[in-house]
Amino acid sequence: MNITIIGTGYVGLTSGTCFAEVGHHVTCVDNNPEKVEILLRGEVPIYEPGLAELVKQNVAAGRLKFTTSTEEGVRHGDVIFIAVPTPPQPDGSVDLSFIEKVAREIAQCLTPETGYRVIVDKSTVPVKTGEKVAETVRRYAPAGVEFGVVSNPEFLREGCAVDDLLNPDRIVIGSNDERALGLMQKLYEPFVAPVLVTDINSAELIKHAANSFLALKISYINAVATICEATGADVEKVAEGIGMDKRIGRQFLNAGLGYGGSCFPKDIKAFIAISEAIGQPFHLLKEVERINAAQLDRFLNKIREKLWVFREKKIALWGLAFKQNTDDVRESVAIRLAKKMIAEGATIVATDPQAIDTAQRLAGLTGPGISFTDDPYACLDGADALVIATEWPQFAAVDLNEIRKRLRTPLVFDGRNLLDPKDAAAAGLEYFSIGR
Ligand code: UGA
Repeated sequence: MNITIIGTGYVGLTSGTCFAEVGHHVTCVDNNPEKVEILLRGEVPIYEPGLAELVKQNVAAGRLKFTTSTEEGVRHGDVIFIAVPTPPQPDGSVDLSFIEKVAREIAQCLTPETGYRVIVDKSTVPVKTGEKVAETVRRYAPAGVEFGVVSNPEFLREGCAVDDLLNPDRIVIGSNDERALGLMQKLYEPFVAPVLVTDINSAELIKHAANSFLALKISYINAVATICEATGADVEKVAEGIGMDKRIGRQFLNAGLGYGGSCFPKDIKAFIAISEAIGQPFHLLKEVERINAAQLDRFLNKIREKLWVFREKKIALWGLAFKQNTDDVRESVAIRLAKKMIAEGATIVATDPQAIDTAQRLAGLTGPGISFTDDPYACLDGADALVIATEWPQFAAVDLNEIRKRLRTPLVFDGRNLLDPKDAAAAGLEYFSIGR
């Protein structure tokens, strides 16, 4: 099928590429000419495992194209995806101005001769946005234009986006238009995954409800971790024990510094704002946020308790990305932690397999209190403590004796429970983690 994706951010670029990979003809539109130029050169502006190769292969096969022209995109795609940012506003509600603008632009490019078009919301949007998109297109398109509107939320995780897209747990398609639903089902035929067809409002709600539930699981285990610490229990064992119940499941029960990233913090705030706007405040989600914020303060207190003061202390920091396998530092707890320690007078030497550049350029982690190295061991030389803030698997596979040798004082604060407490103790490290 011919499809168009408007917006080449994480979701737009990865889903466009995967649609091309399964055989569709995809045109990706972005209004940023520099970005389009980078993509046309066969380069990828984000780090996502496997993505760069797939982009190259599909461009070479003639199935994947990039342009700045919405008009060209609208002419090409029988199905047109909107995958533009939906950033938070200061009060937590979602800024839908990019969605509205794209809906208007699509409408203005449509003519009765274009033929029937399916307009799909891929971005995470509040329930009832599809109705607004339909209204907007109807208002700005010439008379006689035929279209249907669909919500098709994306569930990919950064760091494993390609695999999540090609092998999804489920595909959710919501629309009140039978013709649009038929085309969407055809589009997804090459994927081996259950397809859930719903009305448009339910599909939109599924996305916010899913992300909020996952964040709830994380805050739940973090709250349990606090109780474990106070009672001498081990949160890893507790997570294993409750996770063995199939109704609960072990995933997303990793205690740590809490969730960050461009999705959970924003989506939980948005879902709270939606609930308040309809007069049904979702208090449980406020508590999820409160527990999440408290994790960082509790961890800092743990470090403070041992170091007493941060001034004139050198800290080795492992991890800057908001999670493993990405260079993304948006809402990264690791960055927040670094900034807090620097503000209290510590000097940080930080490392991360992918996010050193983004931490400086995009998260503003610069200045006299911070320096960077690619080598995790080099961070440790003469440091008063090692702090682990991101769950990169390579940090779990380190030589503990080397850590002991290089640190000035053998203090290790593991905010992601990557190391084994017994092994750390055997190597002569004074080791602190979360909930054990
Ligand atoms: C999340 C969802 O998992 C995706 O399904 C969804 O499509 C995406 O948001 C989105 O809305 O676009 P993502 O933000 O890429 O994906 O990353 P996750 O793997 O969900 O991790 C989010 C945060 O939770 C990270 O900071 C991670 O460190 C933290 N986390 C995750 C924990 O602290 N404990 C866990 O057990 C799992």
